[in-house]
Amino acid sequence: MIEDLLNVNDYLRLAVESLYFTVIVDHKGIIRYLSDNYADILNIDSKKAEGMPVEKVIPNTRLIIVAKTGKAEIGHLFRMKNGQEVICNRIPFKNKDGTIQGVISTASFHDIKRIEVLSNQINKLKKENKLYIEQLNNLRNNTFSIQNIIGQSNEILEIKSILPKISNSNLSVLITGETGTGKEVFANAIHQLSDRKMFNYIKINCAAIPKDLLESELFGYDEGAFTGATKGGKKGKFELADRGTILLDEIGEMPLFLQSKLLRVIQEQELERVGGLKTIPIDVRIICNTNKDIEKLVSEGKFREDLYYRINVVELKIPPLRERLDDIPLLCDYFIQKFNRDNGYFISGISDKVYKLFEQYNWKGNIRELEHVIERACVMSSDSTLTINDFDFLLPRLIKEENNYSIREQGEITTLEAQKNQLEKEAIIKTLIHTKGNKTAAAKLLKINRSILYDKLKKYDIYL
Ligand SMILES: Nc1ncnc2c1ncn2[C@@H]1O[C@H](COP(=O)(O)OP(=O)(O)OP(=O)(O)O)[C@@H](O)[C@H]1O
Ligand SMILES: [Mg+2]
Repeated sequence: MIEDLLNVNDYLRLAVESLYFTVIVDHKGIIRYLSDNYADILNIDSKKAEGMPVEKVIPNTRLIIVAKTGKAEIGHLFRMKNGQEVICNRIPFKNKDGTIQGVISTASFHDIKRIEVLSNQINKLKKENKLYIEQLNNLRNNTFSIQNIIGQSNEILEIKSILPKISNSNLSVLITGETGTGKEVFANAIHQLSDRKMFNYIKINCAAIPKDLLESELFGYDEGAFTGATKGGKKGKFELADRGTILLDEIGEMPLFLQSKLLRVIQEQELERVGGLKTIPIDVRIICNTNKDIEKLVSEGKFREDLYYRINVVELKIPPLRERLDDIPLLCDYFIQKFNRDNGYFISGISDKVYKLFEQYNWKGNIRELEHVIERACVMSSDSTLTINDFDFLLPRLIKEENNYSIREQGEITTLEAQKNQLEKEAIIKTLIHTKGNKTAAAKLLKINRSILYDKLKKYDIYL
């Protein structure tokens, strides 16, 4: 009977709801349609939800991001409020002039287990694929070139400017700097920029290999050199790096007896394998990395002075991140792009307040630490811009560091004089952090004479 027929909108509604959980938002993220089956899960009346901002109704939604970027997200796993996992498609639809009208999100509720199994398999394959690409890049000696050294601070620009000259020579280079400053990145770039780039770039970490194995790893061994030695012997890293470059990472950890052998190899440009009789000529460019003070090791008798001069023909001192704060925004952008690319995120940037925090932070782990901090924020953030809330895990570390300076004994009751001093000290530290260590600016802000500030720095052992 004709009066029993539903209108077309109702048909559409019924059809959609028998297939999907659906929500439609406009370009501002305001809900324009919410299917009843989804509204049930969200414990809300679908009619009441219409007109509300979607993030108020659906926690962790990515619809606003899609409405901003205009990039569809297909086949994403999404956990709904009731804990059920669904496969979700978020598709933007546009006006005739190309501007975004809104986004429709549909999640199918059929046979998710099967899809989950497939999705796990795909993820596993993706991971394997990533590993192979990395290995392939390593084999091609392609991991890092000078373009990938991010940084526009004077310190970095200066090093970058001399890098081509150094690379075109055969001089041994010693790269020093705190952990995570990028020593390896620079070592790779030197090889890439040199004529040796067609040949092997071999890296060996002197600290990671047991002392008694290091010799044969470096110089190889001949058949019968020791029980268990492979038939026909084995090439060492120096032979493998022939005509190319060898990176001796953490050279400060090399035991003294091997330092003598290394010195001989560098001087004679030939080596003998362990247990071997013949000398093998080698043509290898040597780069050494260390985060130790080798001069100190020399004075303690732990590093041979003559070897130190041999490896230290050119020294590249990579400054810590806290001395090149200008590089932080560039590095942040670089890492965000990288994580977006690798993981399909849509993070667009970082708020200014975060940069203020980064300037005060000590960055003991340098660029490696910054990379991890950004990665963590990208993973945890539910917004497209990273804000101070995404980095609140840094604040306790920051306060701890400040307190290390102030040696505050929590809760301890001391004399009024001692407590006044404590407060004065903290005020000076805070101001110096604010002025990035600039004493003149700090004295001005504190409205005291510069000489008085210096006296107080001395009094309180402040080395900021
Ligand atoms: N200038 C840079 N541009 C881009 N990425 C960088 C830069 N410097 C360092 N990195 C990244 O920071 C991380 C640490 O760098 P690297 O391993 O070279 O440090 P390192 O000085 O060798 O540290 P360690 O002494 O602990 O071995 C790496 O992931 C590297 O890719
Ligand atoms: Mg390293």
